[in-house]
Amino acid sequence: MSIVSAPDTRVPAAAADFLPLQGTDYVEFYVGNAKQAAHFYKAAFGFQSLAYSGPETGDKEKVRYVVRQNKLTFIFTTALRPRHPVAEHAHIHGDGVKVLALRVDDAAGAWRETTARGGRSCMEPITLADKDGEVVISGIHTYGETLHLFVERRNYTGCFMPGFREWKTAYNPPSTGLLYVDHCVGNVGWNQMNPWVGFYEKVMGFRNILSFDDKDISTEYSALMSKVMSNGNGFVKFPINEPAEGQKRSQVEEYLEFYKGEGVQHVALATADIVETVTQLQDRGVEFLQIPSSYYEDLLERVGAIDEDLAPLKALGILVDRDDEGYLLQIFTKPVEDRPTIFFEIIQRKGAKSFGKGNFKALFEAIEREQSARGNL
Ligand code: FE2
Repeated sequence: MSIVSAPDTRVPAAAADFLPLQGTDYVEFYVGNAKQAAHFYKAAFGFQSLAYSGPETGDKEKVRYVVRQNKLTFIFTTALRPRHPVAEHAHIHGDGVKVLALRVDDAAGAWRETTARGGRSCMEPITLADKDGEVVISGIHTYGETLHLFVERRNYTGCFMPGFREWKTAYNPPSTGLLYVDHCVGNVGWNQMNPWVGFYEKVMGFRNILSFDDKDISTEYSALMSKVMSNGNGFVKFPINEPAEGQKRSQVEEYLEFYKGEGVQHVALATADIVETVTQLQDRGVEFLQIPSSYYEDLLERVGAIDEDLAPLKALGILVDRDDEGYLLQIFTKPVEDRPTIFFEIIQRKGAKSFGKGNFKALFEAIEREQSARGNL
């Protein structure tokens, strides 16, 4: 009897996912000046003040400002004294992402499952409690000095989590329509992509859903390789980039040099109306990569009919790509701090589940023009 092609019904699909994730809980940035960073993300990106911790709440070592927009929560953290780990991090890396926190039902279980599979612990499960309930947190290390924390919110009714107080301000600029984290990309060193792909497969149970080699992602001058890792339900996607040989220095190498190691390259933020969102962001001072107008000349021949008018896409520099399931619209900011390191992508998906492969060449040529202007190409 042959059952080679029959599905394996012995193990329910849900039981196979040893690390069920509900999505991104928050992204924490270690920065040089958290107060000003929080203001920038409110003013420029449309976040609202949510929570604060610092000396006034019992933390004499650092301040943390939490801002929120729809399902996006960012924390900006700065040390109050030198030689604190947060100060050292900001000194070495500049402003950057320290924590990609993932929402789970069972933070102790997430820690047990991942550390049993070789994940390196950065925080054993701890329960934080106050009058509003409990939050359990645990965590493991990933590439560079970046951490994944697992956050379990047990009917917590406070503004953010124990240790924080509500942060209210008189200045509350409106939302720009940013909704949630679509994906989060890491840059790793030469020949380090596959080891980190292996980490996400083995330690976190992710799958490799897409791969791009240096022929997919190359310009006349530089190249990179990328593999997209996704968790079981697809709520959490982490593409991993590594540099590839080219005539000149690739954007990943520039990042690694200025970040002083591996780290988060960009966070993609979803919107349901990219034209409106990007109009708002530009009006508020967010700078985007410039795409030559020639990109739009044969766009509709390349991607087929789209719902949007071409004129605003062209005026704003929004890119379009299509795959088997639909299309997507995307645009990339310039780096949002002084070093040429982290930036943001704004993305609107209309069926497409891919990452804009058709735009890689135009995009990377735009990045190279910026690199060249910095003298780093
Ligand atoms: Fe992206």
